[in-house]
Amino acid sequence: MSKTLILATASIATVVLLAASLDRASAAERTTKTPTAKAPSAKAAAIEQGRYLILMGGCNDCHTPGFNESAGKLPVQEWLVGSPVGFKGPWGTSYPINLRTFINSMTEEDWIKNAQTLQGAPPMPWWALHNMKRQDLAAIYAFVKDLGPKGENMPSYLPPHIAPQPPYINFDVVLPK
Ligand code: HEC
Repeated sequence: MSKTLILATASIATVVLLAASLDRASAAERTTKTPTAKAPSAKAAAIEQGRYLILMGGCNDCHTPGFNESAGKLPVQEWLVGSPVGFKGPWGTSYPINLRTFINSMTEEDWIKNAQTLQGAPPMPWWALHNMKRQDLAAIYAFVKDLGPKGENMPSYLPPHIAPQPPYINFDVVLPK
């Protein structure tokens, strides 16, 4: 083989190798540009808004056991499973329901209708739900749906004439004499 031919073959080989590595680079670039690497989707934004509303709405204070004791640091996976500690007062005894099983058993439309019309026994602040925007109720739904169901159903409400089993908190009002 002549010297020129050797040089020419060598440079062709270099070009081929270079082209191959350029092709790999662009393939790698293509895979990093798939939609999954994009900014958060509308669904992710709704889930985050739902988490924010539950936290700001104080729903965990009653519906999440151990939340207050953790100074609000309990992981989201533990949220809203309901509390077996009854609230006893002139209204009877009420138990903060398991919102994980409750909301996960409903369609979004059923949840929104329920939230806009419910009038739970004290101390459930149901008017907070009546005043939420439809979009906010949908965000709460998206958040709890994303968490999925967890835990058992809590005891049912008891009317005033039925004495509850412990544990319960007494809300009886003591008036001045
Ligand atoms: C001060 C305690 C307390 C707080 C705060 C609270 N809840 Fe409740 N919640 C209860 C109790 C107790 C019940 C059960 C009421 C009953 O038996 O009628 C209840 C019931 C419910 C129900 C079921 C109503 C039905 O249709 O029977 C929903 C839904 C609910 N709460 C959602 C929420 C959400 C969302 C928040 C936050 C915005 C929240 N709760 C904040 C105590 C609370």
